[in-house]
Amino acid sequence: MSLTKEDLLRHGFTLIAAAALIAGLTSNATAAEGDGAALAAKYSCNVCHAVDHKVVGPGFRDVAKKYTGDASAPAKLAAKIKSGGSDMWGATLMPPNDVSDADTNSLIAWILSQDTEATAPYFEKK
Ligand code: HEC
Repeated sequence: MSLTKEDLLRHGFTLIAAAALIAGLTSNATAAEGDGAALAAKYSCNVCHAVDHKVVGPGFRDVAKKYTGDASAPAKLAAKIKSGGSDMWGATLMPPNDVSDADTNSLIAWILSQDTEATAPYFEKK
């Protein structure tokens, strides 16, 4: 098989496209994660919440674990973030938060992605 200039060009473009795609995916993942933390700071969620331990409200990792496998979690959490409430984690009230729909969705995606451990113990508890 003899490679023509065109073959080389085509192959080169495929590699460049693949590299660009991978770079894009990687940077998106990082940006999404950063966005969650940045939004939690922007809306002062982190006055009451941390990722890995309870502050006033539950740690976000515990929230993610609690809702593993619950398809209605995003809707429930969106309602809680916007309207506030209590009794899921104790008697302490979470105040309502004035957060846009887009930012609420980003926050929820970030919070639910904090369950980094194997979820088997969670399923055993159910
Ligand atoms: C003044 C303290 C405070 C602030 C500020 C606060 N929270 Fe909370 N949050 C709480 C408390 C307390 C709970 C537990 C409520 C309960 O038991 O239902 C909670 C619960 C939650 C839950 C779990 C809800 C559930 O029903 O399981 C999520 C998710 C959450 N907060 C996200 C956020 C986000 C996102 C922000 C910022 C926009 C925020 N919180 C700001 C105190 C706070």
